[in-house]
Amino acid sequence: MFGFFKKRQHDKNNKKQLDKLGKNTSIPGKVIKRKAGALIEIGDDCLIEGVCVTETVGARLSIGNNVYIGGGTVLDCVNNIVIEDDILMAGGTLVMDSDNHSIHYSDRKKDLADWKNDFNHDWSTTNTKNVVLRKGCWIGAKCIILKGVEVGEGAVVAAGSVVTKNVEPYTVYAGNPAKFIKKIEKKDV
Ligand SMILES: CC(C)(COP(=O)(O)OP(=O)(O)OC[C@H]1O[C@@H](n2cnc3c(N)ncnc32)[C@H](O)[C@@H]1OP(=O)(O)O)[C@@H](O)C(=O)NCCC(=O)NCCS
Repeated sequence: MFGFFKKRQHDKNNKKQLDKLGKNTSIPGKVIKRKAGALIEIGDDCLIEGVCVTETVGARLSIGNNVYIGGGTVLDCVNNIVIEDDILMAGGTLVMDSDNHSIHYSDRKKDLADWKNDFNHDWSTTNTKNVVLRKGCWIGAKCIILKGVEVGEGAVVAAGSVVTKNVEPYTVYAGNPAKFIKKIEKKDV
């Protein structure tokens, strides 16, 4: 019984941080806005078991309708991540629109001290590019989707893939780095 109330409170706390929440969506996972002013929108009929994080004031994380985000998955949004409708994202996946650190030692040296100071970070030293997952795609377990990637409508990313470039609509991509495997016949939805 206690567990039930705890879960309900947890769900409520998550929902309080959202700027838009659709109907019939539950969030047993976690919503973390590191800086006030970020925007997180989640549509109808979703189940969010993973973690939605915004890192900056200007971050925009948008999740459509009928989306599943599996447990252990992290959506790490520095600028803009769009997850359209009807998407299944299995557990243990990481979606990031930024490298989070510079490739240069001299730029990175102060990152930890900044972070320990209320999650501050010099984002100007970091490469960031928006990520878009188009409707109806399926991301297999334990994938990594990196900055700048667009996964096309109806596409499938095989388990354990590291996606560094766009995935064409209605195709299967797999591997590290993820490569084209085959086309998928497009059927009426
Ligand atoms: C993507 C997937 C659905 C494809 O299944 P399929 O259509 O039966 O494809 P096949 O098993 O015939 O594989 C086709 C080719 O892709 C390769 N391949 C499949 N999955 C792969 C993976 N995860 N990583 C690397 N290569 C993979 C196969 O080795 C095969 O290569 P080949 O043609 O050289 O022999 C399946 O491999 C997969 O990854 N499922 C994910 C399951 C999952 O994560 N579920 C979580 C619950 S939501």
